[in-house]
Amino acid sequence: MRLKLSIWRQAGPRAAGRFEDYELDEVSPDISFLEMLDMLNEQLVEAGKEPVAFDHDCREGICGACSMMIDGAAHGPNEHTTTCQLHMRSFSDGDQVRIEPWRSRAFPILKDLVVDRGAFDRIIQAGGYISVSTGEAPEANLTPVQREMANYAMDAATCIGCGACVAQCPNGAAQLFTAAKVSHLGLLPQGQPERAQRVVDMVEQMEEEGFGACSNYRECEAVCPKGISVDWIARMNRDYLKAKLTGVQRSNQSR
Ligand code: SF4
Ligand code: FES
Repeated sequence: MRLKLSIWRQAGPRAAGRFEDYELDEVSPDISFLEMLDMLNEQLVEAGKEPVAFDHDCREGICGACSMMIDGAAHGPNEHTTTCQLHMRSFSDGDQVRIEPWRSRAFPILKDLVVDRGAFDRIIQAGGYISVSTGEAPEANLTPVQREMANYAMDAATCIGCGACVAQCPNGAAQLFTAAKVSHLGLLPQGQPERAQRVVDMVEQMEEEGFGACSNYRECEAVCPKGISVDWIARMNRDYLKAKLTGVQRSNQSR
């Protein structure tokens, strides 16, 4: 198939960006969206031009790196699908496709389609871990976890930290990501000792990073490639309120 691509090009964080148009011919419907971008980049390099910078790693839907807006939708038109798992059969011959980076104050553009998602790392660093010793693997497995609870925690743990929830939210809010990361640990017995401190530290770090406030648009849930539900946000808010009402303050300790 033949495609017309309109791609955001920006040489660096402080450079002015603009859309540039490209035409790509003989695109197989069986290749992935990232392979289609590889095709374009090979042609650009052969012509002595600068290839389009984009993030990717696993290319199998588990690392969350392949972040981009495709025709205004984070990760493109298909539900529960990362960009690397999107195939060109989802497009038609002659389509015009607009590709741009996540746009959020908290995710500054580094180059072309690549943004800095360090804000997510800092939210995790604020408390997204368990510091009590859980022993070696067989010993840890001796801690009984109700099967229902383990499955429930796993639903939250499937968040791949891609940032689509932030990119699609009109407020640029990071509640869905933060709630998933707070909750999967808060549901397990090993996560209980630090549960109240964790939610306060992670939520307040999120607020410091310049993300917007959640006002229940639910765009995050609609585009999340892992189907993370906004119910997790309600759970995080309950945990946060409970922690604050019992006097838990932001920890100053550097983790
Ligand atoms: S909640 Fe969903 S959209 Fe947001 S970072 Fe996690 S996987 Fe990506
Ligand atoms: S490249 Fe890892 S999820 Fe897409």
